[in-house]
Amino acid sequence: MNIAPITVKTMIPPSNNKSCIESHHMRLSDAITASANSVEHFLDRELSESNLSSPYPAPSRLINAVRHGALNGGKRLRPLLVKLSAELIGDTKGDLVRAGAAVEYVHCYSLVHDDLPDMDDDDLRRGQPTVHVAFDPATAILAGDSLLTHAFGVLADARTHPDANIRTQLITELVKGAGVGGMAGGQMRDIEGERQGYDPETISLIHAMKTGAIIRASVRMGAIMANATIAQLAKLTEFAESAGRIYQLADDILDATKSSAQLGKTAGKDAAQGKSTLIASHGLDHAHEVLNEELQGALALLEPFGERARLMNELVTHFAKREA
Ligand code: IPE
Ligand code: IPE
Ligand code: MG
Ligand code: MG
Ligand code: MG
Repeated sequence: MNIAPITVKTMIPPSNNKSCIESHHMRLSDAITASANSVEHFLDRELSESNLSSPYPAPSRLINAVRHGALNGGKRLRPLLVKLSAELIGDTKGDLVRAGAAVEYVHCYSLVHDDLPDMDDDDLRRGQPTVHVAFDPATAILAGDSLLTHAFGVLADARTHPDANIRTQLITELVKGAGVGGMAGGQMRDIEGERQGYDPETISLIHAMKTGAIIRASVRMGAIMANATIAQLAKLTEFAESAGRIYQLADDILDATKSSAQLGKTAGKDAAQGKSTLIASHGLDHAHEVLNEELQGALALLEPFGERARLMNELVTHFAKREA
């Protein structure tokens, strides 16, 4: 199968808050491209042999596997969430590309492990062989471990935000997003669901945990970077939780309706593996109805932010209506 990965060709200057253009007046498609370009450039520069070789030399096989798992044409939508969330609140003294990249590292790790033979057993990701196919499962486990660990190194670094208190909050958010009460716990429930059918509430909980928790962390991290008030953070959190459910429900619909070539990952995988999805239990039409209702709810939650939330509004609409 010959699938072109989504490649990002235009290079944007290195991550540096001054050169990181604000998205307010952009079209969503331009904001997606600009953000993806800066994240791509950051990851490419950062995942270098010299940068990873501390305190000891990094093995080249692991460097290559880490790079394969991270620099392989992802949509980079979570870093954009971090950026739009911050811009919706106001200015930041921090570097939104670095904060977004930390989330993207955790996301990439979650995909590398999600694809492993003992997890979803997938051989195609972002239009390329998965890490365990290109290398081997042990190397893929270590590449995932490395990406996860690296994320927290980025957040702990003063270049991400000069205020150590803010950096600690960012770390705590990502810990919660990735942990047992977040993504990892959601993956556990997802696997348990292969042996037992779930009711719609539990399916929604799995969406919230395995995918929503990282999306929730992305939005909250952006808001924290821009010194959001407690009230603003609470409103945005409610929105983010809805956006997370939307993201995974759309993913399940895409899995059931698109081809592997369109998705860059194996289509029809959920049904083949007996995953407990809303589509399996209640059908596609119902899943579309729930998705639309959830989208209307998410948009309503942005209303208090007015025109400042225009791009966030368009982004969550894109989450629901995306084609891949
Ligand atoms: C796929 O995420 C896995 C889910 C959490 C639904 P994305 O659809 O964001 O995948 P990439 O990062 O663009 O490849
Ligand atoms: C993704 O769920 C959740 C995480 C990777 C945490 P899926 O298993 O549905 O993701 P895809 O479809 O393989 O991208
Ligand atoms: Mg999975
Ligand atoms: Mg999967
Ligand atoms: Mg899926």
